[in-house]
Amino acid sequence: MESGATMSDSGENQSDVENRSDRSDSLQYRCIVPPKIDPSGLDFLDMTGEYLLCLMHSQNIPEDASYGWSLRGGRMKSSLAIPPLTKDLAQVLIDADSIQRRVDELARQINQDYADCTGTLILVGVLKGSFIFTADLCRKLTVPHVVDFIALSSYGKTGDQQSANVRLLMDTRENMEDRHVLIIEDILDSGNTLDYLIRNFKTRRPASVKTAVLLDKPDRRVVPVHIDYVGFEIPDVWVVGYGLDYAERYRTLPYIAEMYPVK
Ligand code: IMP
Ligand code: MG
Repeated sequence: MESGATMSDSGENQSDVENRSDRSDSLQYRCIVPPKIDPSGLDFLDMTGEYLLCLMHSQNIPEDASYGWSLRGGRMKSSLAIPPLTKDLAQVLIDADSIQRRVDELARQINQDYADCTGTLILVGVLKGSFIFTADLCRKLTVPHVVDFIALSSYGKTGDQQSANVRLLMDTRENMEDRHVLIIEDILDSGNTLDYLIRNFKTRRPASVKTAVLLDKPDRRVVPVHIDYVGFEIPDVWVVGYGLDYAERYRTLPYIAEMYPVK
């Protein structure tokens, strides 16, 4: 053992654990703990075999969480049982690295598609859910663009109650006439919100209106909507994280997590 290194409770060389971590104050390596093992106090437990090391964003753990996990690389294997992130969250559906890789790909595609367009592209992020997706995507764009936002409301404050009535809470500032517009939305569900937005923006005589959506729940569609750029298709489950909320909670989780159905 190197000088200064200590053995952890699990018998692991602590300096090894710290060396393999690209530490920052907000990140810690932890690992997925097999079911039926109480993870409390098992910081840096090194599980070999099928259990993977993962990153825990300790600053983003909801108050009532005992622990939270984000897989490093790749989608989570369904065979890999992990403890619930909180009593509300069933599993990590899309981990932070996978989101970033997909955002890179979408940005590359958008850069190519708008390369020959004249004028400055207007990105319109739909608040609040798309604020993180918009921030990540716009920083990967090389085509000239400005960032604008619009706020709409179609869901009750108590959570996921859907209503076909879309209400404009805050309009954009940019003049869209003869300019290319790209709407950036967190998730496409019934389609009511995007349908409303596309129709509304087309009356403003833009050069074009396109749509970029991080998540698509095709099973829930009521109104058909054309999507130009889509991140991931997901099943009909309520998801939170990376901007998406349940009654304003969980927006700042770095990954997309599936919630247990609300009773
Ligand atoms: P739509 O008008 O039914 O397509 O709903 C779109 C809006 O509903 C999104 O912009 C979200 O704000 C919200 N939404 C739909 N499904 C979810 C979800 O699973 N988690 C969080 N918000 C959602
Ligand atoms: Mg939204």
